[in-house]
Amino acid sequence: MAGSSSARIGIFGAGYVGLVTGACLAKLGHSVVVRDVLPERIEALRAGEPPFFEPGLADLLAQNSERLTFTLDADEATVGADFIFVCVGTPPTYGGDADLSAVWAVLDELPQRDTRAILVMKSTVPVGTGEKVREALGARGLVQFGYVSNPEFLAEGSAVRDFSRPDRIVVGAFSESDGDAIAALYEPIEAPVVRTDVSSAEMVKLASNAFLATRISFINEIANVCEVTGADVAEVARGMGLDHRIGQYFLAAGIGYGGSCFPKDVSALKQLAGNSGYQFQLLTAVIEVNELQKRRVVGKLERHLGRLRGKTIALLGLAYKANTSDLREASSLVLASRLLAEGAEVRVWDPVADATSVLSGVTFSDTVLDAVQGADAAVIVTEWPELRELTQPEFRDAMRRAIIVDGRNLLDPELARAAGFAYEGIGRPSSELGALPEAEEREPELNR
Ligand code: UDX
Repeated sequence: MAGSSSARIGIFGAGYVGLVTGACLAKLGHSVVVRDVLPERIEALRAGEPPFFEPGLADLLAQNSERLTFTLDADEATVGADFIFVCVGTPPTYGGDADLSAVWAVLDELPQRDTRAILVMKSTVPVGTGEKVREALGARGLVQFGYVSNPEFLAEGSAVRDFSRPDRIVVGAFSESDGDAIAALYEPIEAPVVRTDVSSAEMVKLASNAFLATRISFINEIANVCEVTGADVAEVARGMGLDHRIGQYFLAAGIGYGGSCFPKDVSALKQLAGNSGYQFQLLTAVIEVNELQKRRVVGKLERHLGRLRGKTIALLGLAYKANTSDLREASSLVLASRLLAEGAEVRVWDPVADATSVLSGVTFSDTVLDAVQGADAAVIVTEWPELRELTQPEFRDAMRRAIIVDGRNLLDPELARAAGFAYEGIGRPSSELGALPEAEEREPELNR
């Protein structure tokens, strides 16, 4: 096997994890072949076009192109490779378990070989998957393959930075020497390496995401209690976060978590526990709070507008968070369909996310100003920095009613009110009631 200075690496899956990992490993000097099953994705990558927006990725792919190959052919990524990274999707099944069919498909494509290679599991998988893979490799006589669980903690929008500056690198191996080989691969990166058994490594990933999701649902419930008791959740989170045992991160109340990881991983851990005979009650609540949180915006709009039938609502931001074009499990999608079901006219705007194939019945706007023109309310769904400008007079004057529901607590409530808007944040004191439900025109004196 080649030393860590220049290894041959095959990567299965050209999604966020596979592409960022592949590009970053190429930057470390390794020869990387990325394999995907989607011809259009491979063609685009060969032409130098990343299939999604991720800060820094396009440059990284371009700068390391001589060590990066893209292919549809599994053999190209496996024959001669020292390490084979599994970075395929593990989406939820209808029942909420992780669907491992793409992982098993990779195993089916591994060739017999005479020299040793290590299969590196980056995809998030249920605890126990490593054992099953080891059995499957043995059953096929693929005795030259080692197996290491090396879960991925990249967050979209900061994935390239997260790879080079991770909080930790988790390496769960069946054999000491396989673990050593993976640890050596990451040697240039300064971070604590957690060496452990395969099952524990698998659980570190699931438990970390479930814990972070729990923090979000917790602060969202605190926010909801703040709303009925008159406290401000932003102040509460600031005060809580200074306790070093709590910490300041992941305490931003909002309209619920989304994305490709949290919803699926929380559900997968809950199902994994259930399938093993343990009811993980806390996670049931975390999921339910998150679902309800997406819908609370509707109540806030109704508070100011009465029935929403015939009202025009601008949804500002569609991506599940800023700095990504990803719409997977985005709260915007649930919100848009709830508003349409109430009979509202829905306008949507996002600077990068393209929802034309997933949202129907809404009007797509190219600019924020277009989206809010004549609208009865604007809802900040994603914390895009440009939405901080929303309190400018041009937006207020364009709207039929100057009402902002800030699903991300992006704006300063006092500034928004001083600029003439009725403002509703999450877990913050409400504005007094503005325009009457039946009023056709904005009534500036009521929009405090
Ligand atoms: C997450 C994990 O952070 C990452 O380690 C894992 O590998 C994949 O899942 P990601 O989904 O990219 O990454 O985004 P993250 O920034 O963690 O946010 C997830 C969701 O939580 C977003 O919808 C975000 O808006 C929401 N969130 C986050 C909050 O509502 N409040 C917070 O305080 C933090």
